Amino acid sequence: MEKLNKLYEGKAKEVYKTSDPNCLIVSYKDDATAFNGEKKGTISGKGAINNQLTNHFMQMLEKNNIPTHFVKEISKNETLVKKVKIIPLEVIVRNLAAGSFSKRYGVEEGTRLKKPSLEFSLKNDDLGDPLINTYHILSIGLATEFEIERIEKYAFKINSLLREYLLKFDVELVDFKLEFGKTPDGKIILADEISPDTCRFWDTHTHEKLDKDRFRRDLGGEKEAYFEMLKRIIGK
Ligand code: TMP
Repeated sequence: MEKLNKLYEGKAKEVYKTSDPNCLIVSYKDDATAFNGEKKGTISGKGAINNQLTNHFMQMLEKNNIPTHFVKEISKNETLVKKVKIIPLEVIVRNLAAGSFSKRYGVEEGTRLKKPSLEFSLKNDDLGDPLINTYHILSIGLATEFEIERIEKYAFKINSLLREYLLKFDVELVDFKLEFGKTPDGKIILADEISPDTCRFWDTHTHEKLDKDRFRRDLGGEKEAYFEMLKRIIGK
Protein backbone atom coordinates (compact mmCIF):
# COMPACT_ATOMS: atom_id res chain seq x y z
CA MET A 1 0.00 0.00 0.00
CA GLU A 2 1.62 3.22 -1.13
CA LYS A 3 0.93 6.58 0.49
CA LEU A 4 0.25 9.16 -2.22
CA ASN A 5 -0.56 12.90 -2.17
CA LYS A 6 -2.33 14.75 0.61
CA LEU A 7 -6.03 15.17 -0.14
CA TYR A 8 -7.08 17.25 2.83
CA GLU A 9 -5.76 18.77 6.02
CA GLY A 10 -8.12 19.39 8.93
CA LYS A 11 -7.49 20.82 12.38
CA ALA A 12 -6.37 17.53 13.94
CA LYS A 13 -5.81 15.15 11.02
CA GLU A 14 -4.45 14.89 7.50
CA VAL A 15 -5.87 12.59 4.85
CA TYR A 16 -3.77 11.00 2.09
CA LYS A 17 -4.65 9.17 -1.10
CA THR A 18 -3.22 5.68 -1.46
CA SER A 19 -2.48 3.33 -4.34
CA ASP A 20 -5.77 1.60 -3.46
CA PRO A 21 -8.62 3.79 -4.79
CA ASN A 22 -10.94 2.41 -2.09
CA CYS A 23 -8.67 3.36 0.82
CA LEU A 24 -7.21 6.47 2.41
CA ILE A 25 -4.56 7.03 5.05
CA VAL A 26 -5.51 9.21 8.03
CA SER A 27 -2.62 10.84 9.87
CA TYR A 28 -3.32 12.22 13.35
CA LYS A 29 -1.60 15.46 14.43
CA ASP A 30 -0.61 16.79 17.85
CA ASP A 31 -2.29 20.12 17.01
CA ALA A 32 -5.21 21.03 19.24
CA THR A 33 -7.85 23.64 18.54
CA ALA A 34 -11.03 24.73 20.29
CA PHE A 35 -13.88 27.16 19.66
CA ASN A 36 -13.76 26.57 15.92
CA GLY A 37 -10.04 27.09 15.69
CA GLU A 38 -9.92 30.32 17.73
CA LYS A 39 -7.78 28.69 20.41
CA LYS A 40 -4.70 26.86 19.17
CA GLY A 41 -2.09 24.69 20.84
CA THR A 42 -0.14 21.46 20.74
CA ILE A 43 -0.56 18.42 22.94
CA SER A 44 2.58 16.39 22.47
CA GLY A 45 1.77 12.71 21.86
CA LYS A 46 -1.94 13.40 21.22
CA GLY A 47 -1.89 12.26 17.57
CA ALA A 48 -0.55 8.81 18.38
CA ILE A 49 -2.88 8.40 21.37
CA ASN A 50 -6.00 9.43 19.43
CA ASN A 51 -5.03 7.10 16.59
CA GLN A 52 -4.54 4.12 18.90
CA LEU A 53 -7.64 4.77 21.00
CA THR A 54 -9.83 5.32 17.93
CA ASN A 55 -8.66 2.07 16.37
CA HIS A 56 -9.10 0.17 19.61
CA PHE A 57 -12.69 1.43 20.04
CA MET A 58 -13.57 0.87 16.36
CA GLN A 59 -12.36 -2.74 16.53
CA MET A 60 -14.45 -3.29 19.67
CA LEU A 61 -17.48 -1.83 17.86
CA GLU A 62 -16.86 -3.95 14.73
CA LYS A 63 -16.96 -7.06 16.93
CA ASN A 64 -20.39 -5.88 18.03
CA ASN A 65 -21.73 -5.47 14.49
CA ILE A 66 -21.16 -1.73 14.02
CA PRO A 67 -19.61 -1.19 10.57
CA THR A 68 -16.67 1.24 10.63
CA HIS A 69 -14.12 2.66 8.18
CA PHE A 70 -11.21 1.02 10.06
CA VAL A 71 -8.94 -1.19 7.93
CA LYS A 72 -5.50 -1.34 9.55
CA GLU A 73 -3.22 0.65 11.83
CA ILE A 74 -0.06 1.32 9.84
CA SER A 75 2.00 3.37 12.29
CA LYS A 76 1.69 5.07 15.68
CA ASN A 77 -0.27 7.95 14.19
CA GLU A 78 -1.46 6.64 10.81
CA THR A 79 -4.33 4.35 9.87
CA LEU A 80 -5.62 2.90 6.64
CA VAL A 81 -9.36 3.50 6.36
CA LYS A 82 -12.09 2.81 3.82
CA LYS A 83 -12.80 5.76 1.55
CA VAL A 84 -16.30 7.05 2.20
CA LYS A 85 -18.32 10.14 1.43
CA ILE A 86 -18.62 11.88 4.79
CA ILE A 87 -22.16 12.92 5.65
CA PRO A 88 -21.66 16.54 6.81
CA LEU A 89 -23.30 16.05 10.21
CA GLU A 90 -21.81 15.93 13.69
CA VAL A 91 -23.82 13.40 15.66
CA ILE A 92 -23.63 14.16 19.37
CA VAL A 93 -24.82 11.69 22.00
CA ARG A 94 -25.03 12.62 25.68
CA ASN A 95 -25.47 10.65 28.89
CA LEU A 96 -24.69 13.45 31.35
CA ALA A 97 -25.30 17.17 30.88
CA ALA A 98 -22.11 19.09 30.03
CA GLY A 99 -20.72 21.74 27.68
CA SER A 100 -23.12 23.37 25.24
CA PHE A 101 -26.08 21.28 26.51
CA SER A 102 -25.64 22.64 30.04
CA LYS A 103 -25.24 26.18 28.74
CA ARG A 104 -28.16 26.05 26.32
CA TYR A 105 -30.69 24.46 28.66
CA GLY A 106 -29.42 25.58 32.08
CA VAL A 107 -28.88 22.00 33.28
CA GLU A 108 -25.99 21.68 35.71
CA GLU A 109 -22.89 19.88 34.39
CA GLY A 110 -22.79 16.30 35.61
CA THR A 111 -26.57 15.87 35.84
CA ARG A 112 -27.43 12.37 34.61
CA LEU A 113 -29.96 12.66 31.78
CA LYS A 114 -33.19 10.69 32.20
CA LYS A 115 -32.59 9.27 28.73
CA PRO A 116 -29.50 9.50 26.47
CA SER A 117 -29.97 12.37 24.03
CA LEU A 118 -28.87 12.94 20.46
CA GLU A 119 -28.45 16.07 18.40
CA PHE A 120 -27.08 16.92 14.99
CA SER A 121 -24.86 19.82 14.00
CA LEU A 122 -24.12 20.82 10.44
CA LYS A 123 -20.42 20.20 9.82
CA ASN A 124 -19.45 23.61 8.46
CA ASP A 125 -16.67 25.64 10.09
CA ASP A 126 -17.62 28.86 8.28
CA LEU A 127 -21.08 28.68 9.87
CA GLY A 128 -19.71 27.53 13.25
CA ASP A 129 -21.27 24.02 13.08
CA PRO A 130 -24.87 25.15 13.84
CA LEU A 131 -27.42 22.79 15.40
CA ILE A 132 -29.68 21.25 12.75
CA ASN A 133 -32.86 19.17 13.06
CA THR A 134 -34.04 16.27 10.93
CA TYR A 135 -36.52 18.42 8.98
CA HIS A 136 -33.66 20.71 7.98
CA ILE A 137 -31.46 17.74 7.06
CA LEU A 138 -34.22 16.38 4.77
CA SER A 139 -35.02 19.82 3.32
CA ILE A 140 -31.41 20.46 2.39
CA GLY A 141 -30.95 16.84 1.25
CA LEU A 142 -27.96 16.05 3.46
CA ALA A 143 -29.30 12.55 4.18
CA THR A 144 -32.47 10.54 3.56
CA GLU A 145 -35.02 9.55 6.19
CA PHE A 146 -33.67 5.99 6.06
CA GLU A 147 -30.10 7.19 6.50
CA ILE A 148 -31.04 9.40 9.47
CA GLU A 149 -32.78 6.43 11.12
CA ARG A 150 -29.72 4.26 10.54
CA ILE A 151 -27.37 6.90 11.94
CA GLU A 152 -29.52 7.34 15.07
CA LYS A 153 -29.74 3.59 15.61
CA TYR A 154 -25.98 3.13 15.26
CA ALA A 155 -25.25 6.17 17.45
CA PHE A 156 -27.34 4.89 20.37
CA LYS A 157 -25.93 1.38 20.01
CA ILE A 158 -22.38 2.79 19.97
CA ASN A 159 -23.29 4.76 23.09
CA SER A 160 -24.39 1.72 25.06
CA LEU A 161 -21.46 -0.43 23.89
CA LEU A 162 -18.85 2.25 24.56
CA ARG A 163 -20.39 3.32 27.88
CA GLU A 164 -20.33 -0.19 29.24
CA TYR A 165 -16.87 -0.88 27.86
CA LEU A 166 -15.39 2.25 29.46
CA LEU A 167 -16.94 1.57 32.86
CA LYS A 168 -14.59 -1.40 33.20
CA PHE A 169 -11.73 1.12 33.20
CA ASP A 170 -13.45 3.49 35.64
CA VAL A 171 -14.25 5.93 32.85
CA GLU A 172 -17.64 7.60 32.56
CA LEU A 173 -18.72 8.41 28.99
CA VAL A 174 -20.32 11.84 29.44
CA ASP A 175 -20.90 12.67 25.77
CA PHE A 176 -19.27 12.29 22.37
CA LYS A 177 -19.38 13.28 18.72
CA LEU A 178 -19.54 10.85 15.80
CA GLU A 179 -19.33 11.23 12.04
CA PHE A 180 -20.68 8.74 9.53
CA GLY A 181 -19.79 8.11 5.90
CA LYS A 182 -21.38 6.46 2.90
CA THR A 183 -19.61 3.68 0.99
CA PRO A 184 -19.80 3.54 -2.83
CA ASP A 185 -22.59 0.93 -2.50
CA GLY A 186 -24.61 3.25 -0.26
CA LYS A 187 -23.95 1.72 3.17
CA ILE A 188 -23.67 3.96 6.22
CA ILE A 189 -20.56 3.26 8.29
CA LEU A 190 -18.86 4.93 11.25
CA ALA A 191 -15.96 7.20 10.21
CA ASP A 192 -13.72 9.89 11.75
CA GLU A 193 -12.46 9.25 15.31
CA ILE A 194 -13.43 8.33 18.86
CA SER A 195 -10.87 9.93 21.14
CA PRO A 196 -10.38 12.39 24.01
CA ASP A 197 -10.67 15.12 21.32
CA THR A 198 -14.23 14.09 20.48
CA CYS A 199 -15.55 12.61 23.73
CA ARG A 200 -15.92 13.73 27.31
CA PHE A 201 -14.37 11.10 29.57
CA TRP A 202 -14.61 11.52 33.36
CA ASP A 203 -13.09 9.33 36.03
CA THR A 204 -16.08 7.44 37.43
CA HIS A 205 -15.23 8.16 41.07
CA THR A 206 -13.57 11.60 41.12
CA HIS A 207 -15.15 13.05 37.93
CA GLU A 208 -11.65 14.19 36.95
CA LYS A 209 -11.70 15.21 33.29
CA LEU A 210 -9.65 12.92 31.03
CA ASP A 211 -10.28 14.68 27.72
CA LYS A 212 -9.86 17.83 25.64
CA ASP A 213 -11.91 19.93 28.07
CA ARG A 214 -8.62 20.30 30.00
CA PHE A 215 -7.30 22.23 26.98
CA ARG A 216 -10.58 24.00 26.10
CA ARG A 217 -10.98 25.28 29.65
CA ASP A 218 -7.30 25.92 30.48
CA LEU A 219 -7.35 23.38 33.31
CA GLY A 220 -3.78 22.16 32.63
CA GLY A 221 -2.65 18.54 32.60
CA GLU A 222 -4.07 17.85 29.13
CA LYS A 223 -1.09 15.73 28.06
CA GLU A 224 -1.31 13.67 31.27
CA ALA A 225 -5.05 13.16 30.70
CA TYR A 226 -4.52 11.75 27.17
CA PHE A 227 -1.74 9.46 28.44
CA GLU A 228 -3.95 8.33 31.33
CA MET A 229 -6.68 7.32 28.86
CA LEU A 230 -4.13 5.40 26.76
CA LYS A 231 -2.80 3.66 29.88
CA ARG A 232 -6.25 2.72 31.17
CA ILE A 233 -7.64 1.44 27.88
CA ILE A 234 -4.63 -0.01 26.05
CA GLY A 235 -2.27 -0.40 29.00
CA LYS A 236 0.75 1.47 27.64
P1 TMP B 1 -20.48 20.35 23.30
O1 TMP B 1 -21.04 20.13 24.66
O2 TMP B 1 -19.46 21.45 23.25
O3 TMP B 1 -21.56 20.52 22.27
O4 TMP B 1 -19.68 19.02 22.89
C1 TMP B 1 -20.32 17.77 22.87
C2 TMP B 1 -19.31 16.67 22.53
O5 TMP B 1 -18.85 16.81 21.21
C3 TMP B 1 -18.06 16.69 23.41
O6 TMP B 1 -17.76 15.34 23.76
C4 TMP B 1 -16.98 17.24 22.54
C5 TMP B 1 -17.42 16.92 21.14
N1 TMP B 1 -17.10 17.95 20.17
C6 TMP B 1 -16.34 17.63 19.07
O7 TMP B 1 -15.90 16.50 18.90
N2 TMP B 1 -16.08 18.62 18.16
C7 TMP B 1 -16.53 19.89 18.29
O8 TMP B 1 -16.25 20.72 17.45
C8 TMP B 1 -17.33 20.20 19.46
C9 TMP B 1 -17.87 21.58 19.65
C10 TMP B 1 -17.59 19.20 20.35
